[in-house]
Amino acid sequence: MIVVTGATGTIGRALIGELGGSARAVVRRPDQGEALGCDFVVGDLERPESIPLKPGDRLFLNSSLWPGFVRAHQGVVDHAAAAGVAQVVTVSVRGATSSSLLGFGMHGQADAHLKASGVPWSILAPVGFMQNLAADVDEEGRFFGSYGKGRVGYVDARDIAAVAARLLTGPVGPDATYELTGPEALTHDEIAAELTRALGRPVRYVDLPVEEAAVHLEKRGLPAGTAADLAALMSQIGDGRWASTTTTVADLLGRPPRSLREFLDVGTPD
Ligand SMILES: NC(=O)c1ccc[n+]([C@@H]2O[C@H](COP(=O)([O-])OP(=O)(O)OC[C@H]3O[C@@H](n4cnc5c(N)ncnc54)[C@H](OP(=O)(O)O)[C@@H]3O)[C@@H](O)[C@H]2O)c1
Repeated sequence: MIVVTGATGTIGRALIGELGGSARAVVRRPDQGEALGCDFVVGDLERPESIPLKPGDRLFLNSSLWPGFVRAHQGVVDHAAAAGVAQVVTVSVRGATSSSLLGFGMHGQADAHLKASGVPWSILAPVGFMQNLAADVDEEGRFFGSYGKGRVGYVDARDIAAVAARLLTGPVGPDATYELTGPEALTHDEIAAELTRALGRPVRYVDLPVEEAAVHLEKRGLPAGTAADLAALMSQIGDGRWASTTTTVADLLGRPPRSLREFLDVGTPD
């Protein structure tokens, strides 16, 4: 049995589609499971025992980030190890380490626990998702960041799901981290030009020094410390952390990952 957590999320929904409904989704409310149209169980990552796992099951472990993320994910990994799960495929972020800021640090800690668990593991380490880009554009056609001229090879979350499906349905391979990117790394000015073309209205990238980006994020509702860390992270990304592309999606799927232009022109099923 392939058990899919985070099944209502961006990657999870696409993964359920990739698996053709053969998976068991873990959802927090019954109506979510009914809407997915596949076998489901109501469970919560904060209560690992609520996720039924049997020897030989394959587990897709993914969720959004929240303060209890590391503890919950570690608990689910321990539960999977005790149950004799054959493989855990999880979603991290490219460049995560235990001492990094925000989500990079949370993922680093969760990844370290998984690697030490004894359960066969595959860690998907994507860069930023294309799905977020258009949503960041404000009413005046601007989106803000501290990336400077740094390039990012944004990836379509559906390609992450396709990779997860491949790993969960093929023979369990060696433990490995898969760095996932789109086919090309663009500057945010180039991304603004693509958005302008696709949305049919002018879109402009506004680059801010880290301190100003922190103030901007705080005004948009983030706590001061989080805003400062996020602005610092954007600047680190601008320094090249996500500048290179990988061939991992093409190597695993036998087709190139979707480009930003394809993503914007064809759109997403959601
Ligand atoms: N966005 C990016 O650019 C980016 C880049 C690199 C890595 N990532 C990583 O990708 C992951 C997010 O993937 P995504 O965008 O597909 O997720 P998403 O769309 O934010 O969906 C999150 C899913 O997690 C579920 N969830 C949250 N808390 C839960 C809990 N306590 N118990 C059970 N389920 C829970 C949610 O269920 P409900 O529907 O019930 O809320 C939902 O199905 C994160 O780890 C993030 O760090 C994101």
